[in-house]
Amino acid sequence: MARTPRKTAAKPAAAKKPATKKPAAKKPAATAKKAAPAKKPAAVARKRVAAKKAAAAEAVRGYGAGGVDTVISVEEVTRQAAAMADHITVESLQAMANNDPYLVIENLKAGYGRMEILHDLNLHVARKQSLCLIGPNGAGKSTILHAIFGFNDIFSGSIKVGDGPNKKDITKLSSNQKLSQAGIAYILQDKSVFPAMTVEENLWMGGFLMDTPNKAKEAAERVFEKYPRLAARRKHQAKVLSGGERRLLEISRALVMDPEVLLVDEPSIGLEPRFIDMVFEILHDLQHGEGKTIIMVEQNAKKGLEFADIGYVLVSGELAKAGPGDDLLKDPDVGRLFLGG
Ligand SMILES: Nc1ncnc2c1ncn2[C@@H]1O[C@H](COP(=O)(O)OP(=O)(O)O)[C@@H](O)[C@H]1O
Ligand SMILES: [Mg+2]
Repeated sequence: MARTPRKTAAKPAAAKKPATKKPAAKKPAATAKKAAPAKKPAAVARKRVAAKKAAAAEAVRGYGAGGVDTVISVEEVTRQAAAMADHITVESLQAMANNDPYLVIENLKAGYGRMEILHDLNLHVARKQSLCLIGPNGAGKSTILHAIFGFNDIFSGSIKVGDGPNKKDITKLSSNQKLSQAGIAYILQDKSVFPAMTVEENLWMGGFLMDTPNKAKEAAERVFEKYPRLAARRKHQAKVLSGGERRLLEISRALVMDPEVLLVDEPSIGLEPRFIDMVFEILHDLQHGEGKTIIMVEQNAKKGLEFADIGYVLVSGELAKAGPGDDLLKDPDVGRLFLGG
């Protein structure tokens, strides 16, 4: 009984002081601290500072345009994104792939070790289409690309590739087999070139699965013909390339095997804006000029959705939204959480 009056007496005092007593700067701060002991203000403040620092360090990253004021915590984005989730039918995913998919993922459960990250995931993409995965950090976007390329553990479900009804089941193939037998190439996130090797040697590495080194060299020449900018730098060590040239080299190396499907993880990461545009132009040409199928993860959701035919919003290993890229760009929830608007 003695506690109740003390509690109720303390509350209004604490609530009033900070609001009314403006000139006394230090005292209200102390009472405010007492009034809200459950919220761990220090931890919250630390998180905010960290988020602001991260946003300031990489202005084009973060959610959407990444303005400092628009950055909210990953946990909060995840919570709000889960709340806006649509019920997505497999039929609707098929329809987005023009009911003629080239790569199909069905009811995939996959993860690392025993940890399941993707829960009954479905994905359909048609030949020559591009699909962009967006979502909060840790949602499992890269894990989808890893699963397609054979980098992680698949517990159940299937991944198939090919035209028409007779698709090849590639669920259990190794990464080397996916590259050499299934026409799937994975373009790694940043920093995957061999810095001490020349541009040319890096490209040859892209053909390491070919029967002879000569075949790899011939294939590299075809890529050099396509990208004279890279050919001009062929004898230079990769470490002296600009960020944009390095990304071009990473993409080019994946092209040596002449794949049908390109898995691209965050092509814009760490690049200056002018190089980001260049990379998206290259990818646009690969899709529309060369007929490649592209599955991309992009933290810069605006760029990714503007580029892609289809967008999937992934939250905690499940699809929360799926639609044509243009529709998702106009979706107010997507805008608020991922486009910085
Ligand atoms: N190699 C790994 N081993 C164990 N867990 C991992 C590994 N890679 C990612 N994860 C975990 O899987 C989850 C999804 O990660 P990821 O697919 O990288 O997310 P996203 O690309 O959407 O940011 C995260 O919880 C992450 O910690
Ligand atoms: Mg990732």
